[in-house]
Amino acid sequence: MKFATEAIHSSYNPDEHNRAIMPPIYQNSMFALKEIGEPIPYRYGRVSNPTRQVLEDTVAALEKGSAGMAFASGMAGIDCIWRAVLKPGDTIIAVADIYGGAYDLLTEVYAHWGIKVVFADLTVLANLEPLLQEHKPALVWLESPSNPLLRLVDIEAVCTLAHQYGALVGFDNTFATPYLQQPISMGVDIIFHSATKYLCGHSDVMMGIVVVKDAALAKRVRNMQIMTGAISGPMDCAFVLRGIKTLAVRMDRHLANAQIIAERLTEHPAVAQVFYPGLASHEHHELAKRQMSGFGGVVSVYLKQDTREAANTVIKALDMLLMAPSLGGVESLINHSASQSHSGMSREVKDSLGIREGLLRFSIGIEDVEDIWHDINQALNTVA
Ligand SMILES: Cc1ncc(COP(=O)(O)O)c(C=O)c1O
Repeated sequence: MKFATEAIHSSYNPDEHNRAIMPPIYQNSMFALKEIGEPIPYRYGRVSNPTRQVLEDTVAALEKGSAGMAFASGMAGIDCIWRAVLKPGDTIIAVADIYGGAYDLLTEVYAHWGIKVVFADLTVLANLEPLLQEHKPALVWLESPSNPLLRLVDIEAVCTLAHQYGALVGFDNTFATPYLQQPISMGVDIIFHSATKYLCGHSDVMMGIVVVKDAALAKRVRNMQIMTGAISGPMDCAFVLRGIKTLAVRMDRHLANAQIIAERLTEHPAVAQVFYPGLASHEHHELAKRQMSGFGGVVSVYLKQDTREAANTVIKALDMLLMAPSLGGVESLINHSASQSHSGMSREVKDSLGIREGLLRFSIGIEDVEDIWHDINQALNTVA
């Protein structure tokens, strides 16, 4: 089956659910046994649930992994992976431009629990090997394209090196989705998604999804999920299952719109620089063409006026686009990374990552592209 078909038909058999076309919502905390030790498939909701199972199996199939797990939020999923594969004394090497919340979890929690946290610019492959030699990390954590400047890492090359030094590779695939990039086929061991974003696609669910390549490692992560309990509820799973059925068509529109908006932004007098992997001017355009089948729906810009005031003037001038701390829904959004997703970072760290006050990130939705452009253009004109 091809991706769009697999997103609709894999992992669900209507014959097992009274011929219901859509997976029913099993709003249950438990299932009854008729006798001690009866081998029934589902017993207790923290361990498993039939609706959740269909979602987990669907995403595992799309990401080409052995098992999937659905969590109450993206951060619950990341935390579960790190708990399952790291122990005190271990080192994690993470991409420097990691998602802000994951940065906070590493620096404010894991670093105090005896985990050595090393951030590195892994967009430059040569940075990795000396760090692997020095730290012998248990885990290398990647994000590509990264938030908000859409930087890419060479996934296959990083995995090959990391594995030579005995490290596992975890990968945040939130921005690309399995439709545009399947990192397990490039060597990644564990995939993570904030399903809150594109997999859900309608901005009405918080969820994390983890897919593990190897069955034994999947069991370790699953056991950690069962013990710590941050599972996703059946209703949320049904919403995200519905979202995934339209992922391919939504992503096609997101990226077609984003390409047009990115190209027009390069011509706008208020804009100093545009970040979108689909632009030939993007530092990792060639790599993006090689390892992704499309460039995604997120576009970022530096304003010529690099101030919070200018950013705020643009945000306030928007009529249709709303400012919100997320992305990946059908509606276009604007985000000010310095005061939202990356607010936990010091000014020095923000500067080193290029998180300027005049940086704006657009999540380009699936509305008519002329309406999106009309709104962005007129708002940017206020600071041109
Ligand atoms: C790239 C990335 N990873 C992880 C997360 C965290 O996911 P959640 O907000 O669903 O907990 C986010 C949320 O913005 C994200 O953008």
